[in-house]
Amino acid sequence: MNRQSTTAPDAEGRTLAYTPAVAAATAGLYDRVRAVVPEAEWPVHAPYIDAIERLKRSRGAVVLAHNYQTPEIFHGVADLSGDSLALAQQAAETDADVIVMCGVHFMAETAKMLSPEKTVLIPDLEAGCSLAASITGADVRLLRDRYPGVPVVTYVNTSVEVKAESDICCTSSNAVEVVESLGVDRVIFLPDEFLGRYVADNTDVEVILWKGHCEVHERFTGQELRDYRQAYPGIQIFAHPECPPDVLSEADYVGSTAGLIRHVEATRPERVVLVTECSMSDNVAVAHPDVEFIRPCNLCPHMKQITLPKILTALERMQHEVTIDPSIAARGRRAVERMLEVGRGAGG
Ligand code: 13P
Ligand code: SF4
Repeated sequence: MNRQSTTAPDAEGRTLAYTPAVAAATAGLYDRVRAVVPEAEWPVHAPYIDAIERLKRSRGAVVLAHNYQTPEIFHGVADLSGDSLALAQQAAETDADVIVMCGVHFMAETAKMLSPEKTVLIPDLEAGCSLAASITGADVRLLRDRYPGVPVVTYVNTSVEVKAESDICCTSSNAVEVVESLGVDRVIFLPDEFLGRYVADNTDVEVILWKGHCEVHERFTGQELRDYRQAYPGIQIFAHPECPPDVLSEADYVGSTAGLIRHVEATRPERVVLVTECSMSDNVAVAHPDVEFIRPCNLCPHMKQITLPKILTALERMQHEVTIDPSIAARGRRAVERMLEVGRGAGG
């Protein structure tokens, strides 16, 4: 099993007790996740799950979790989960006073931009992203000077400063649709080079690229997947579009994390490899015991900063609150809302 356990003590150095009451309260949940969470780990996770479940209700909080969160978070404490697009939509629509974002910093920023009146917490401020770190707002201004009049389409895996300099955002679910919605011959696509190449391959629009990469997906190779096809005859290969082009050309399906889940549900392959972050296969396997998941996966060290003890501490102390300079927030929000409008216009 390719996963990282959250067995570290929490911020106070405490370890919560696995009492008979906790065991009883979490028994049903453990039955659901036993295929992906070892029995020996459950007494460590269960007291935190139980405490978080109770505390989030009294705080009026909703826990949002990205598909790359570990199963004890994804299945244990998340109220809503999904890909980057779904998390943005859910953050805009929830009635809760407090959003706890179990994901990386740009996701919490997007939630705050879309729900400025809510308290948005991230359990660890260090949960960053190599794509978001690859570009600044000043870089976007330079590109605009170099390509006057060419619209800037920006992947949501960026800081609010970068979004504020952009015309419209996109996610891996809707990148092609967003680019085509502009009705232009040429766009600047930032910052993921490989997602940008994938868009270019799937539209007639010329795409000016930036050389940002996801440190998780850039490590996969086409050769690795050809080796898997040899070793596991009949295997289906589903890949995330942040992977390099030689990986995508080996894939039977390319899609966002939500797209990968939907494609497993729709096609029910006997054997599949999800070419993406490790927790995806664990999380999807819970609902698909009949599918064999082969796992040449890579861990995202940023996503794995989020642990159950840190979620509990975030709710107890109401930390770490994500705030955004209101003048930047308004411009960043415009780019994200414009993206959400494209989805609504297309009925998605
Ligand atoms: P999606 O879940 O939107 O496909 O994004 C993947 C990712 O790498 C998020 O950081
Ligand atoms: Fe960023 Fe890649 Fe991690 Fe997603 S998986 S948060 S794109 S580094």
